Amino acid sequence: MPKKPLAQPKEKEKEEEPKELKIEAKVDDKAPMKKGKTPQLLRGFRDILPDDQPYWDAVHGVGQGLAKSYGYDRIELPLVESADLFARSVGKQTDIVEKEMFMFPDASGVNVVLRPEATASCARAYIEHGMVDRPQPVKMYYEGPMFRYERPQAGRYRQFFQMGFESFGSPDPVVDAEMIILGNVLYNELGLPVVAHVNSLGTPENRTQYKVELVAHYRKHKNETCEDCKRRILKNPLRVLDCKEEGCQPIKESAPQILDFLDEASKEHFMKVLEYLDEMSVPYVLTPHLVRGLDYYAHTVFEFYLADQEEGRRQTALGGGGRYDGLCELLGGRPTPACGFAPGVDRIMSAMKEKGLSGIVRQPQVFLAPLGDAARKKAFPLFERMRKAGIDATQSFGKSALKAQLEAADKAKVRYTLILGQKEVLDGTIIIRDMESGAQETVDNSKVVAILQKKLEKAV
Ligand code: HAM
Repeated sequence: MPKKPLAQPKEKEKEEEPKELKIEAKVDDKAPMKKGKTPQLLRGFRDILPDDQPYWDAVHGVGQGLAKSYGYDRIELPLVESADLFARSVGKQTDIVEKEMFMFPDASGVNVVLRPEATASCARAYIEHGMVDRPQPVKMYYEGPMFRYERPQAGRYRQFFQMGFESFGSPDPVVDAEMIILGNVLYNELGLPVVAHVNSLGTPENRTQYKVELVAHYRKHKNETCEDCKRRILKNPLRVLDCKEEGCQPIKESAPQILDFLDEASKEHFMKVLEYLDEMSVPYVLTPHLVRGLDYYAHTVFEFYLADQEEGRRQTALGGGGRYDGLCELLGGRPTPACGFAPGVDRIMSAMKEKGLSGIVRQPQVFLAPLGDAARKKAFPLFERMRKAGIDATQSFGKSALKAQLEAADKAKVRYTLILGQKEVLDGTIIIRDMESGAQETVDNSKVVAILQKKLEKAV
């Protein structure tokens, strides 16, 4: 039976807030904004600088292109959601919910969070907007920042960016395979050879049996595990397999494997996924202890890593995902099979830089150089005319001398510079300078856009 729907009147929401999630706002004395000092970035946050944009554009360009070709429609989701959404979906005993949520009471006292991920938001939206009544599967694509209060280190930020592909309504293993294939294509198109680590978590029943064995194994090693593992093995046993503590690794390695507990239907589902991957020659490795850090998964789970990552170097996943058939029901919707994948933009960008790959560098074709106030006034509308005509033009109106503007044009590596002096303004003309030959011609200002279009067409 479906549980209560998620959309509730405000008062109701307030009542439903789990008590243990309440926090008190406190002032950080060590905040970087001391009097007289320049305010600085918060720890774990970063600016995506103009120099980063070629990589940013490349990653998002490939993501958006794949979303279009594979039929994922764009959805924009809010950055702020109710704390309850993630406690119920990602799971109360996960690192994300237990330790990493940016959570605060809003003005009405309701606990809200900066979203740590967007699959739960997407499922909420699917339920809230009745998408279950549309032709299935409903496939959605999103991109944007996520927030996790993690210990900052290389490739680990407190605000990071994801793109996401979510497919609701199909139980078919082809959907799981599509996510992994799509991921493989995405990284390869960006110049990153990857390997997918894959595993299956089967059904909740399979996991119940598995957990009994897992608990028994960890009980035997009770004195060797960290405090988190001791606590989790009692409350949410699967989460011990997320533990990154050095001392817990041998216990994890020797733990029973979930694949041995799958029923026939789950095994068959997983085998079919692998067959599709084989057919597409997607490189993958079976990774029996991969459980991912979020509670909502069932059946296939996967993470992508650089294929040629140096041995011994700490690995950071470039993206991950899996099937989450129980999530919609858990959030009060109708039972809905679903599967998704989220590549991490920050880590992809740094992998591209480390490998010396280039992003998408914009190459303007025309530089517009007005000389004096009257020319500048004419320059704005001309710049707009060029932009609307599809000519990639650039300018540096802040510079006034011709020499400085020609230097800027040289630096921008444009083919043509348009020079608009006082004389040209008076007689309605403009000078086109060929930057390669240095040849100049004076043309009618009203015809310059058409003339440039012809010249640029010829140059292609
Ligand atoms: P996730 O594995 O938590 O999965 O995150 C996906 C990717 O986001 C990671 O593989 C990594 O590339 C990036 N990422 C995560 N945390 C950080 C961080 N602190 N700093 C930089 N990058 C990070 C999810 O979020 C699921 N919602 C994925 C999913 C979609 N499952 C089904 N559909």
